[in-house]
Amino acid sequence: MLWGGRFKDKLNDSAFKFSSSLSFDVNLIHEDIAVSVVHTEMLAEVKIISSEDADKIIAGLNIIQDEYDSRKWKPDIDKFEDIHSAIESRLYEVIGETAGKLHTGRSRNDQVATDLRLWIKKSIEEIIHNIFNLQNTLVEIAEKHVETIMPGYTHLQRAQPVSLAFHLLAYVEMLERDKERFDFVFKETDVSPLGAGALAGSTLPLDPDYSAKKLGFDKTFSNALDVVSDRDFALDFINGCAIGMMHLSKLSEELILWSTMEWNFIKLSDSFSTGSSLMPQKKNPDPVELIRGKAGRVFGNYVSLISTLKGLALSYNRDLQEDKEPLFDSFKTYTECLKIMEQLLNSIEISPKRFEKELQGDFSLATDLCDWLVLQGIPFRNSHEIVGKLVKYAENLNKNFAQLTIEDLKKINPVFNNEALKILNSNEFVLYRKQTKGSPNPDLVKEELSKWKSILFQNRANKKLIKH
Ligand code: ARG
Repeated sequence: MLWGGRFKDKLNDSAFKFSSSLSFDVNLIHEDIAVSVVHTEMLAEVKIISSEDADKIIAGLNIIQDEYDSRKWKPDIDKFEDIHSAIESRLYEVIGETAGKLHTGRSRNDQVATDLRLWIKKSIEEIIHNIFNLQNTLVEIAEKHVETIMPGYTHLQRAQPVSLAFHLLAYVEMLERDKERFDFVFKETDVSPLGAGALAGSTLPLDPDYSAKKLGFDKTFSNALDVVSDRDFALDFINGCAIGMMHLSKLSEELILWSTMEWNFIKLSDSFSTGSSLMPQKKNPDPVELIRGKAGRVFGNYVSLISTLKGLALSYNRDLQEDKEPLFDSFKTYTECLKIMEQLLNSIEISPKRFEKELQGDFSLATDLCDWLVLQGIPFRNSHEIVGKLVKYAENLNKNFAQLTIEDLKKINPVFNNEALKILNSNEFVLYRKQTKGSPNPDLVKEELSKWKSILFQNRANKKLIKH
């Protein structure tokens, strides 16, 4: 126990089990030891403890680290309240009474906040690396499908033709925003709480800037009361995971739709599908469905943490211990999903010709025909009306656009000529007709792809995934 002097009775067994966080905060062991090492160095630096004692403590902490990594020692969940007390108690066993000097001028409140911030910074590096890999995979697939035509949708109704490359690049954009969001969270997290004590600093001449610098933080806290109770960075981290999962769930949904018999646009590989216990013919996209499904638990983690934080009076309250499980779970779930998504995308089989015939003369060229009428000097609203009538006319005859003749067109409006007819039945150049920036014109998409390739290549070359 880290406390006990003022107590007559021992903590009730059930209350002890109920309040212990060791089963999950053991996840912070590396960060906790790093924080203790730096804290000890700082204590020696400002001469609160001797350098001999500091060396002894640091050597002991390193032994504990090695023992844990080589599985020679494991904190006993039945004996300790949290990872901090487990390590301190082990330190007594390893180096004796000098261990009692480690916690000088420190509280578990600033300690746990520092551990958490270090853990989040490390986790963000890993997340960004995985997002980057997924972007890379999407760009590699897109490069082969600049002219692979497919229907673009609004309201899940066919709207205008696009290309698969264009569609996949939309996800590359989302993923880029996800990285930028984590970049922000990283900066927000990059503040050291060590030296804040329980809530109000210390009467000892500690040097929080020294600790911050040694631990690789960009800044030191300005207000002890705030920094021991602040978990905004953790909430923003989960928010980043939640939005990232939301994006992955959208991609999952599309892969699921595209692999149905109705779409028949892609085939998921056997290695990322499962069978049915009843229907022998079934090949189900379970792993993708699970990515979509797991988004829900990460959203839940966000709601869980924000609800924990609501209404807490300053500063530290034990409620804050409830921050860890949603945090760890969000990271684990999100990184796993990013990795699985990348692997399964690498193994899909695409049918590039699937929509070529089907979109031939499809009504999705209606807007292009409106644009043509506009270029003939007809106001857009009138063009819209004319083309709408043409669609109704064709539908009544049970024809698609490609099956209409010049006579049909002229019946609707005399301004139509062979050039207009060509718009309706030439599929080949349909994407090249787009003129605007950010459209699926294959020439523009190729430019976008080379832009992304150089951005992603630079990222890889520099190995500098985060701007800090
Ligand atoms: N297990 C605790 C947590 O995660 C550590 C801090 C405990 N501090 C305290 N004053 N009881 O929040």
